[in-house]
Amino acid sequence: MTEKDVIDLLLRQHEEIKSLFTEVENAAPEDRAEAFQKLVRLLAVHETAEEEIVHPYARRKLHDGGTIADERLAEENAAKDLLTEMEKAGVEDPRFSANLALLRRAVVEHAEHEEQEEFPRLRQETSEQERRAMATAVRAAEALAPTHPHPGIDSTAKNLLLGPPTAIMDRTKDVLRRAMGKRG
Ligand SMILES: [Fe+2]
Ligand SMILES: [Fe+2]
Repeated sequence: MTEKDVIDLLLRQHEEIKSLFTEVENAAPEDRAEAFQKLVRLLAVHETAEEEIVHPYARRKLHDGGTIADERLAEENAAKDLLTEMEKAGVEDPRFSANLALLRRAVVEHAEHEEQEEFPRLRQETSEQERRAMATAVRAAEALAPTHPHPGIDSTAKNLLLGPPTAIMDRTKDVLRRAMGKRG
């Protein structure tokens, strides 16, 4: 968890998101709510970090960055709507498994678009220093959603990140903006 380059950090989060989907799919009924909550937190934190920091960079730095950013944001918004609906309906909802499969497909496809169309070009068009600064902010946000938490930290993170995805995203935005502001 010490990636200095924001692209490495986001790629690792993509892998973690995929394993959390598998964890929710395989969870026993009594563990499903907790596993899903972990997925909701990491997804909310990850996509918010991309929306706040990474796509705006693509928009500014890449020659067709506006189109790329708009397409990624549209995909993120669609996934966010489904995630919000699923969180509201809860894991007992009869459509939960079907929705989870839909969400997984959408999120994985979206991540592939980022990995193929956006990240390699961002790596070329940004300086190492810029990517390090972005990584620092994304790590600050990630600390809100530990997937392998230490005992004491877990309860704090849970308190910070209770509630629907939109509340988690708002809290994440605050942390990201403060972290980006700090570097002047
Ligand atoms: Fe994304
Ligand atoms: Fe992503």
